[in-house]
Amino acid sequence: MTTQSARQAPAVLPGPNDPCWCGSGSKYKKCHRGADAVEARKKGSDIHRRGIRPGTISPPRSVPAHIPRPDYAETGRPARSPELSEVKSPDVIARMRRACRAAAQVLELTGAAVRPGITTDELDGLAHEAYIKLGGYPSTLNYHGYPKSLCTSVNEVICHGIPDSRALEEGDIVNLDITIFLEGVHGDCSATYFVGKVDPDSERLVKVTRECLELGIAAVKPGRPINDIGLAIEGHATKHGMSVVRAYCGHGIGERFHSPLQIPHYFEPDAKMIMRPGMTFTIEPMINLGHWQHRSWDDGWTAVTADGSRSAQFEHTILVTEQGAEILTLP
Ligand code: MF3
Ligand code: CO
Ligand code: CO
Repeated sequence: MTTQSARQAPAVLPGPNDPCWCGSGSKYKKCHRGADAVEARKKGSDIHRRGIRPGTISPPRSVPAHIPRPDYAETGRPARSPELSEVKSPDVIARMRRACRAAAQVLELTGAAVRPGITTDELDGLAHEAYIKLGGYPSTLNYHGYPKSLCTSVNEVICHGIPDSRALEEGDIVNLDITIFLEGVHGDCSATYFVGKVDPDSERLVKVTRECLELGIAAVKPGRPINDIGLAIEGHATKHGMSVVRAYCGHGIGERFHSPLQIPHYFEPDAKMIMRPGMTFTIEPMINLGHWQHRSWDDGWTAVTADGSRSAQFEHTILVTEQGAEILTLP
């Protein structure tokens, strides 16, 4: 029998209102928070300060006037365009092939710069220049007011992390999410990178998450419902004791960054829309080592796991074909 006092506080602590790690069922702030803080002080560390904290966000980077911009670039609000079909014309598909290839190239270039000591703001600078060199606009820039040219989501950040002054540290994992607006359409992809050597759980998390994306893509078949995708992803994640984030989904994409079409990464009985050749959408599972629940920082963007566990993500934009799926975001 284990007594409560014999149990160790985990490396990543719960939020004040989350259930205590000891299993008492009480809120953490009413249970072990005080004792953990005393222990931490004794050891000369403050374990309450573990985890990613907001850094300083640099001023917005500018895009040269000759680069064509999406409708929201100035106002921050996408125009209420008439409902466009989720099945794209051959012309839109041809443009999307080029935009998606460019997005994958920006991701490859930015990902190659990941190393201990580089700040996420420096990665933003590299990505920003790369989009412009390819003649594209960084789709996230001023999208609903988002201030930067990519999202950088470190460790327990699930998605929409804002590049800032924080330097990456050995052992971190970081997702880079790149979206380009080129030839009037968007291409969207992301990948999670290791910063130096990471712990075995993080290695496992990133491997399983990559497999979740592959299995989701393999589930794309014309004539089948959208929820086949989440069924495949959720099965694989839960088999490995991991969880699927529910608050953020894949999405239709093309002339709009996010169309109304939603792609849940868990099994959603109501997601019964039938996949048709010519549809383009993203699959972008976010998988957590712990529970699926999230919290948002008060910057209005950064989503973190509620339990502080690490989260990984991979994303491709795909085209539904007569046979299955074609991945568009390949370099
Ligand atoms: N690229 C993200 C996605 O996969 C969206 C980022 S929107 C932002 O859908 F505003 F947060 F940048
Ligand atoms: Co994305
Ligand atoms: Co996306």
